[in-house]
Amino acid sequence: MLYEKVKQTAEFISARVALKPETGIILGTGLGGLVEKIADKVVLDYSDIPGFPVSTVEGHSGRLIFGKLSSRSVAAMQGRFHYYEGYDAETVAFPVRVMKELGVKRLFVSNASGGLNPSYSVGTLMVIEDHINLIPNPLIGKNDERFGVRFPDMRHAYDPALIELAFEVAESCSIALERGVYVATAGPTFETPAEYRFFRIIGGDAVGMSTVPEVIVARHSGLPVFGISIVTDLGVEGKIFSITHEEVQREGAKAEAKMTALISEMLSRIN
Ligand code: HPA
Repeated sequence: MLYEKVKQTAEFISARVALKPETGIILGTGLGGLVEKIADKVVLDYSDIPGFPVSTVEGHSGRLIFGKLSSRSVAAMQGRFHYYEGYDAETVAFPVRVMKELGVKRLFVSNASGGLNPSYSVGTLMVIEDHINLIPNPLIGKNDERFGVRFPDMRHAYDPALIELAFEVAESCSIALERGVYVATAGPTFETPAEYRFFRIIGGDAVGMSTVPEVIVARHSGLPVFGISIVTDLGVEGKIFSITHEEVQREGAKAEAKMTALISEMLSRIN
């Protein structure tokens, strides 16, 4: 059973890591550099953690890193799991259940996306205000009430107070931020021009292949979420060019300094 598996994995970790993390972070595109800012690190390879899936994508290594960031205790996932790798959505989000069991009080996530909003440019940072999920839901199947309710409310998938904090920090650090709706698609293909148009019409500001399974599971277990997306290419008519994973990574890396500054400062201002 999932519940027992989560407990076992969390117990394995607790027996090896003394630090009690308060904030869980999924280091998606743009947040890789945050690792260097984590002090007193204890690192576990995903392959050494019983129950953990193993990441297969190039550019996404797999380690769970515990330590202090802005003097806050964090558990940071370096490398995440994607639905397009062949894991079901429940497996993609499994580490979030484990982090919750380890005691985290909130979840931070980042990702790369294609911009749909015509006012966006490559390099735009978009705070995720809401999402449209087009990946199968990770909560499909029998519900275990020990995690959360059968029909979770999704009015505030992304925590309004954390969004507000992000804009306060951005202003004081002179970081430009947008806010918008993230459309989650299974991938692994990037969109056809018609698909980009469709995602814009249904209300999206950016589209990507991750994050939402983890966010749904976090909300199911009552964790407030903060999400931010780096626009690495554009799905806007007249601005659509051929795109590769390498270009996404390269554009993501350019945003790293701003992203790490924003997240570390947000953490230092929490509580
Ligand atoms: N589409 C989907 N996922 C993405 C994109 C995109 O254009 N860019 C980065 N991740």
